[in-house]
Amino acid sequence: MNLDIVILAAGKGTRMKSSKPKVMQEFVGQPFLQRVINTAKVLDPNKIIPIIGYKADEIKKYFSNQQLDFVIQKEQLGTGHAVMQAINEITSQFTLILYGDVPLINHELLLRLIDASKKTGIGLVTFDKINPTGFGRIVRDDNKQKIIKIVEEKDCDHEQKKINEINTGIMCVQSDHLKKWLAQLDNNNAQKEYYLTDIIEFANKDKVEVAGIKADTETSIQGINSMEELILLERMYMQEKAEQLINQGVKIIDPNRIDIRGTLTCEENVTIDVGCIFEGDVLIKKNSKVGPYNIIKASQIGENTNLNAFNHIDDALIGDNCNIGPYARIRPATTLKNNINIGNFVEIKKSSIDDHSKINHLSYVGDTKIGKEVNIGAGTITCNYDGANKHQTIIEDNVFIGSDTQLIAPVVIKKGATIGAGSTITEDAPENKLTLSRVEQKNVDNWIRPKKK
Ligand code: UD1
Ligand code: CA
Repeated sequence: MNLDIVILAAGKGTRMKSSKPKVMQEFVGQPFLQRVINTAKVLDPNKIIPIIGYKADEIKKYFSNQQLDFVIQKEQLGTGHAVMQAINEITSQFTLILYGDVPLINHELLLRLIDASKKTGIGLVTFDKINPTGFGRIVRDDNKQKIIKIVEEKDCDHEQKKINEINTGIMCVQSDHLKKWLAQLDNNNAQKEYYLTDIIEFANKDKVEVAGIKADTETSIQGINSMEELILLERMYMQEKAEQLINQGVKIIDPNRIDIRGTLTCEENVTIDVGCIFEGDVLIKKNSKVGPYNIIKASQIGENTNLNAFNHIDDALIGDNCNIGPYARIRPATTLKNNINIGNFVEIKKSSIDDHSKINHLSYVGDTKIGKEVNIGAGTITCNYDGANKHQTIIEDNVFIGSDTQLIAPVVIKKGATIGAGSTITEDAPENKLTLSRVEQKNVDNWIRPKKK
């Protein structure tokens, strides 16, 4: 597309009450500006030109490995002044103007805007807001058709204040027009700023029709000015995601008590209890249940699987008919096949576990391969780290490991082996035998328990 995208991001964001530049505040884990840039990239422009000022070096550093054409606005003399700073960078036929503090801007809306602008020469995104206080108002002609001008709140007369249609600031302009109109701006207004919005009047003077595009959701055009607005918008965003899933049949017990920070995909008959956090791409297959307060990151949960309360699951593949937790921690690069039980206070890392195996209580399993129908007793530890390197443990099918056992890796427990409780296993255990390493029990006669002095 023959398009340059300018992103206004020079302000400090005083009302955030933070030393960070506003556009570097995180919206659901990502700086606002990064989100806007990601959306801009989808439109495949020739250039993305963020206009920065406050803490410009910090912003540039963060984005140093991304293809961006930063422009500095030393003093913030208004939105029009900001775009003027980019004039020499703008070389494409059309210029799209976005805002670094509108994190949920979406490309579908922008495509509609760009299409409309191509037909007329300039397009503007507006929104009908119940309480329009603080925003620039869209003034239309007597037939309520043509957009004639934008009047800032502080410059509005009594009648204009009643207008509900607001300026979102997001516009797309044929670049030649934009350059011509920017040159005509002055700061003759209530705020003594160079208002970008004045170009709408110049377009009318030049008989260029201003195409109005209405945003269908408020979240998509909402700018963030304070921590309160940030938190409210994050909540709305989470709620929208929860509602989409509910509409697909997912039973989310309370849509106000779920955090979907990445992409959550659910098949049919999935139930999600309160307090869960989902990050990255998570897939939950049909008939599975997520109990309260699970934190699940970049993982896949199979069919008919039950996650009890309070598990922490990160970068794991969990199969069908499994029963996990409560309080299990499943760490990256773990694969659990089907019909597996993982109980409370079990930590599993970089391991694979085959069908019908059980680790029911208080164990650490790391760098381990476990076969089918294995039972790992309470308090079993795979000692995988010698202080310098990690080593593997292999536990073959049908093994029974007695409680409180240490398996000193590298070690192999062969098929059908039984390990007696309390053993420290340093060498491979043979197939189908009982292996144990315990000091024989002795009974001390004449022993007296110490007494309190
Ligand atoms: C602007 C619009 C208003 C619209 C509102 C939507 C103008 C004159 N007014 O008002 O019609 O309803 O946005 O939120 O355009 N910025 C710079 N450099 C500057 C000034 C601003 O980079 O010199 C950036 C700010 O950091 C901010 C954005 O542009 O991210 C908007 O500026 P702001 O001053 O908040 O504009 P509003 O007064 O809200
Ligand atoms: Ca603003």
